[in-house]
Amino acid sequence: MGEYIQSPFNYTGGKYRLLDQIMPFIPAGINCFVDLFCGGGSVGINVPAKRHIYNDIDKNLIKLYRYFYETKEEEIIEQIISVIRRYGLSESRKYGYKYFDCNSINGLSKFNRPFYLKLRDDFNTLKDTDDLYEVFLYVLIVFSFNNQIRYNKEKKFNLPVGKRDFNKNIERKVRLFTRKLKKQKAVFCAGDFRSLDIEKFENDSFFYCDPPYLITCATYNTGWTGSDDHDLFKFLDNLHRKGIRFLLSNIFTGKGKINKGLIKWAKKYNVHHLDNHYAYSSYHTIRDEKTTDEVLISNYEVTHG
Ligand SMILES: C[S@@+](CC[C@H](N)C(=O)[O-])C[C@H]1O[C@@H](n2cnc3c(N)ncnc32)[C@H](O)[C@@H]1O
Repeated sequence: MGEYIQSPFNYTGGKYRLLDQIMPFIPAGINCFVDLFCGGGSVGINVPAKRHIYNDIDKNLIKLYRYFYETKEEEIIEQIISVIRRYGLSESRKYGYKYFDCNSINGLSKFNRPFYLKLRDDFNTLKDTDDLYEVFLYVLIVFSFNNQIRYNKEKKFNLPVGKRDFNKNIERKVRLFTRKLKKQKAVFCAGDFRSLDIEKFENDSFFYCDPPYLITCATYNTGWTGSDDHDLFKFLDNLHRKGIRFLLSNIFTGKGKINKGLIKWAKKYNVHHLDNHYAYSSYHTIRDEKTTDEVLISNYEVTHG
């Protein structure tokens, strides 16, 4: 595994573990890199480009990016710790697990539950313009189950408490990620991918697209339908017509399902099957549908030196 920056957001479907396989497909000399479904930003943060655009439909996530981008590193850490202290949440980094009558196997949820629920209730009454909104949200994510972001129908954060806290490892991720982000010339957009006007992009731009997958079921996939896939294919066809390069991550098959629409559409482009054993194979057989057939689809030729 190369030396990559890790995201401080734990995204199901985050691309960190696949970066060794994805990076060789990213061309050099990109002017504007667009991470169209940025999620945890594992790809955007690691790709060199003159400018970066991080786009995601999750407004809160994009607010957090802006907060990380605009706030001084030490201030971010101080604000996180001050919210942790204000709510009496655990600080295993300082006191260890025993102090909280917990162990590293079962984690800290028993201790943190009441304090976490109080923080969650308070967060859910805040306006997104309130001071510390982003810090509350980030602390919630860190202390939540699997460190995910999930809301109910009323748009209230609804994950239960998780096992971990703001330990040294997460602090390190925040520090390295925000340091790198601040070095980029970045813009953050909260919106549906369809609202991005591709006419504004020159053809030395590059779009990396890691949308929800039609045939898997991560929390952020709820609501993604065949018609979203269809609109995304049209969006990518338009980029191609304009001479702009794109790279799409997706899966052809998985968990007994097969995305026939994707397989059909991808025929006009270059399909690269990712595989633990054959990282760069690009044969065109469709695998049996029980195995996850993870693919990269590009509208340009890739040569591996
Ligand atoms: C597979 S995740 C991206 C993971 C990311 N590449 C990473 O490495 O962490 C997909 C993302 O698409 C976002 N999303 C879902 N529907 C969207 C839409 N219509 N427009 C833009 N973003 C969308 C979700 O909020 C989620 O963050």
